[in-house]
Amino acid sequence: GRLNLVDRFGRNHDYLRISVTDRCNLRCHYCVPEGQHQCMDFPKLLTDEEIVQIVNVGAKLGIKKIRITGGEPLLRKNLPELISQIKSIPTIEDIALTTNGVFLKKYGKELKEAGLDRVNISLDSLDEKKFSYITRDGHLNDVLEGIQTSVELGFNPIKINAVLMKDFNVDEIEDFLLWTIREPINIRFIEYMPIGQTNNVWSNQYQSLEIVKEIAERIGQYNPVTTHKNSGPADQYAFENAKGTFGLIHPISCNFCDNCNRLRLTADGHLKPCLFWQDEVSLRQFIDNEQQLIHAFKKAMFIKPERHQMGDENFDFGNPTTRVMSAIGG
Ligand code: GTP
Ligand code: 5AD
Ligand code: SF4
Repeated sequence: GRLNLVDRFGRNHDYLRISVTDRCNLRCHYCVPEGQHQCMDFPKLLTDEEIVQIVNVGAKLGIKKIRITGGEPLLRKNLPELISQIKSIPTIEDIALTTNGVFLKKYGKELKEAGLDRVNISLDSLDEKKFSYITRDGHLNDVLEGIQTSVELGFNPIKINAVLMKDFNVDEIEDFLLWTIREPINIRFIEYMPIGQTNNVWSNQYQSLEIVKEIAERIGQYNPVTTHKNSGPADQYAFENAKGTFGLIHPISCNFCDNCNRLRLTADGHLKPCLFWQDEVSLRQFIDNEQQLIHAFKKAMFIKPERHQMGDENFDFGNPTTRVMSAIGG
């Protein structure tokens, strides 16, 4: 129908990822590549009012699930207030946050009270020194405390994202897996994607996720679990008698674009139909005009590509995204 976000390939879109800032207090090597990151000027950022306006229109078009991303979203002023405004839109069923976790100890309670449903926390190493290296001087303990706070506040599920990189954390897969037996957390191993870095850096560090299953088999019996109704691209498993679960997100070895249901809103007001491609639709000039905003959403559907080409042999370098991950929000 007219009020649905269906693209040329028949995929329905009900999930909007909103990047609220491109700034981050950490600067992970793979997300903010050396010398490549320039922060947007403040006037370029959408205001809270503009974001709410866009979500209102999205909601009329069938968006039901919102994820707040960054940069680090908790660097944005008054984020709890923005969350509660979005939460009060009746047809928005689920509002989640993807964060590095450092500020969850401080803001977790306020976020929960504002109506935030769940948190995904990025954590690529359980070793203090390695964590400090990959984040360029972050403190592992801040994140662990943020996770603890989230458990105590009753966020459920709590998902931990670990991007696997060959020479960095493959040796920690076992530790991550054992953690899911003890704690009610959901670790998701993510295949490293060639976004924002040169193809060389990426192909040297890319690790397919088969290895996770091999290591899991050595630890014990595990089974597929049916996922949360709003779960994303991960395949989920759990060890017998474990408190938590583990998941595999493999955009490259096992492409999930056929089921893609997501749109992205950049912090500077562009709808990005696909993580991988450059094509975007600017919403800025239409903020006060609902019909124009609806039209812009439809245009995003029309220009959405069928799939990415990450890892393809005849990879088309024609127009992959020029934004780095920290400006897209993953
Ligand atoms: P849930 O709804 O809680 O499952 O969250 P999510 O997995 O959709 O979001 P999150 O921000 O935690 O992203 C986890 C990882 O999946 C990140 O590395 C993202 O870049 C990656 N990812 C999320 N959506 C897409 C997508 O549409 N395409 C690709 N290629 N990767 C994605
Ligand atoms: N490949 C895979 N995942 C990435 N993320 C950031 N950059 C990449 C990449 N190149 C992850 C972050 C965060 C999520 C939003 O995206 O670790 O958990
Ligand atoms: Fe969707 Fe693009 Fe991600 Fe594929 S790469 S799942 S089409 S956003």
